[in-house]
This record gives sequence, structure tokens and C-alpha cells, in this order.
Amino acid sequence: MISFNNEKTFGFISKENVSAYEAAVKDAQEMLEKGTGKGSDFLGWLHLPSSITPAELADLKATAQTLRENCEVVIVAGIGGSYLGARAVIEALSNSFAWLEDNKKNPVIIYAGNNISEDYLFELTEYLKGKKFGVINISKSGTTTETALAFRLLKKQCEEQRGKEMARKVIVAITDAQKGAARITADKEGYKSYVIPDSVGGRYSVLTPVGLLPIAVAGFDIEQLIAGAVEMEKACGADVPFAQNPAAIYAATRNELHKAGKKIEILVNFCPKLHYVSEWWKQLYGESEGKENKGIYPASVDFTTDLHSMGQWIQEGERIIFETVVSVDKVNHKLEVPSDADNLDGLNYLAGKRVDEVNKMAELGTQLAHVEGGVPNMRVVMPKLDEHSIGSLFYFFERACGISGYLLGVNPFNQPGVEAYKKNMFALLNKPGYEAESKAIQAKL
Ligand code: PA5
Repeated sequence: MISFNNEKTFGFISKENVSAYEAAVKDAQEMLEKGTGKGSDFLGWLHLPSSITPAELADLKATAQTLRENCEVVIVAGIGGSYLGARAVIEALSNSFAWLEDNKKNPVIIYAGNNISEDYLFELTEYLKGKKFGVINISKSGTTTETALAFRLLKKQCEEQRGKEMARKVIVAITDAQKGAARITADKEGYKSYVIPDSVGGRYSVLTPVGLLPIAVAGFDIEQLIAGAVEMEKACGADVPFAQNPAAIYAATRNELHKAGKKIEILVNFCPKLHYVSEWWKQLYGESEGKENKGIYPASVDFTTDLHSMGQWIQEGERIIFETVVSVDKVNHKLEVPSDADNLDGLNYLAGKRVDEVNKMAELGTQLAHVEGGVPNMRVVMPKLDEHSIGSLFYFFERACGISGYLLGVNPFNQPGVEAYKKNMFALLNKPGYEAESKAIQAKL
């Protein structure tokens, strides 16, 4: 199970002030459990891990097997909460170079529908030419432009390349039970489909088929992912006392830091495979808390890479930041620094040491430097990079986000701000139904 530590924030805020959140956290936990807070229609994620049935998991695994047997490439079409969780797990657990190998054990997973770049989509359609590919089309609303546009191209190409019958077998839809174009198409074409529950918002949906199906297609153990989340569901529950509840303490500490003027939280990793875990986390906290002119700005860095770029700002820039480090305790492979007769690079003092020992000392050295430089530091430690740990990490962050949003006084489950750009884009593109907006926006240009 993951562990959490906030000791290195206490030079900046007091332990007493963090403990003083106990009553407010209790209220927040009660709002989550009883559905009495803002956004209570979207609490379906709260007990998702413990309520998924073996039959549901078996069905997802069977669909994943069909895609694995019939596809060398699978495109996950989705944006925001409809792809970031799956990508976070798949990139964290995949061999970094497996997709370059000739004899692949697993289908190559590619992501689309998360941008509107013509070059990206052109290059994707070129790459797919002659390949046995399938598509998982993921959209809760079923109407998101980025995803719908990519799916239109991919469906056409899949049908042309693989024939209508095979396309029907290797296209899967994950969408609303009734509404939206993705649902209508899935029903009309007879695709296998899964429902995203109404009560689960996009950014909280990784433990539904939205995340689970792509993860299973990529060859990872979704039962272990859920088992890790179940463990954390218990550890972060409303019945767990504040002082022993990692989600409660994390939520309280970051809110107290915010009060003390720390406006930006930087999620840090020392393992590039965790890059998309940070992207998932940024969406979760950014969309949940950034509203009503409030909220901690969620940023992320990959160390030690970014120590050679953003490290300067973090060490000496404006003191409005704090760091939350996601650390992996045990690596999965062993590699020692070799000895070299000439020692021209001066690295013989490291000969025989594990590369991870060097990385861990970089991690410790960075923590000491940043804390001394005025950056409070929290740590979330995963025992290792596997499905179980990531499942527990996901639930920890989700639960803490719900609590933290309520502590901040916002609705952590809506995202009204993401509509503004869509309205303008539709007006500029003269989408039917947007005639008045088109006129108004043209007048502004
Ligand atoms: O968290 C959210 O709700 C959003 O970021 C959505 O996940 C994103 O906009 C994609 O929406 P949809 O699944 O409806 O295509």
C-alpha cells in the first residue's frame, strides 16, 4: 500500500494548524458519504472499487482478449478523463521500448481524439495503413469534438481496411447509456459497448471501463488495480481517524499550505514512466478545484530531467510553490554502474552501485535543497511500480481531491469553465444552433 508523509511541510506551517482541520475534514467526509455536499450527483466513484463485481471484470477481460487476438494496434480515442487514467497506467507499467520491438507480446496502444492537430491525425492514419487495428471510442457525453472527429476518421479507415464485419468486432464504445452520438453509432453498428455511469465524472472514471478496458487490452492486471484501490478505499474511509487517514492529512496539509500563500502544487516524480500519472492528477485537481477564482494550480515535473530546466525556478523563484513527490520504493529491474579503467568521466566512485541508488540520492538531495530553499515537501511512496500500487495511488488522490474541494468550499465535481472555449470554437466554425454566438463573435474580431 502507498504511504504518505507531510513532515517536511512543518517548517512552513504548523502541525497544530493541520490537525485543526479534523472537524472540517469530518464534515467533508460526511458530505461525500451522505451525498449532502455540492455536486452530490457525481459521487459514483466513491465506492466504485469495492462494488465492481467479478462478472464485470471478467466481461472486460473477455472484450480485451478479443481486441488482443484481432489487433496489432489499438487506438484509445478519448480526451481528458476519457483517456488520461488509462494512459497513466499503461505508460507506467509498459516496457519503455516494447513498442519498437518486432515480436510484440501486446498490441501497441496509441492515443487519439485528444487534440485537433491535422498533422497528428494524418500521421496516425498513415501509420495505420495496412495494420490490423481496432478502436476503443471513449466519450461520456458522446459529443466531444476532438474525439468525435478522430473517431470519424478511424471508423472509416477501419471499415475500409478490415471490412465491416471485422470492424464491428474490433470497435468498442464506452459512453453514456442513452444519449450522445457515440451511443447512437454503437447501437446502430452493433459494437460491443460499456456504459459510463451518470454518477461518475470523466476525471473520476479510471476505475470504470473507461480505464479498465484499455488497461486490460495492454496486458495489465485490472483485478490487481482494483485490489489496490479497494485497500485505499478502506484506508481513506470516513471511519478512519484523521491522524491515520492519508487522504485526510494530504487534503488538510495542502489547504493549509494554500492559506500560507503557496498557490502552486508541483507533483514530482523521479521516474519518467510516471509522467502521465501526473497528467491524470493535474486534470483531477485542476478541474475539481480551479473555479470561483479559487484553487491551487496543479503543475508537474519529471526529475531529474526537469531539474536541469525548471529546477532553477523551483529552487530560487517566487516562494509560492510546494512539492508533492510520488516516489517508487523498489524498482523492477537491476542495473549496476560499471567500472571503467580510464575513468575519464570520473564516475568510478559509483561503480558497483545500483542506478536506483544514484536516483534515490538525487531524490533525497533534491528534497533537502528544495526544503532549505523555501519549498514545502510532501511524499507519497509507492512500494513498487505495479497495478496494485497504482490502484491505491488513484483512489488516494481521488478521495483526497473530494475532501480538499469541500475544504476549499467549491463543487469538486463540475467543470463549468471548460465550456467557454467550446462555445467560441463552435461559433467561429458556424456550427448549426450557434447563429447568434457566431454573429456576436464575428463582431468582436
Ligand atoms: O472530467 C471531465 O469531465 C472532462 O475532462 C472530460 O473527461 C472530457 O472533456 C471528455 O469528455 P467526454 O468523455 O464527454 O468526451
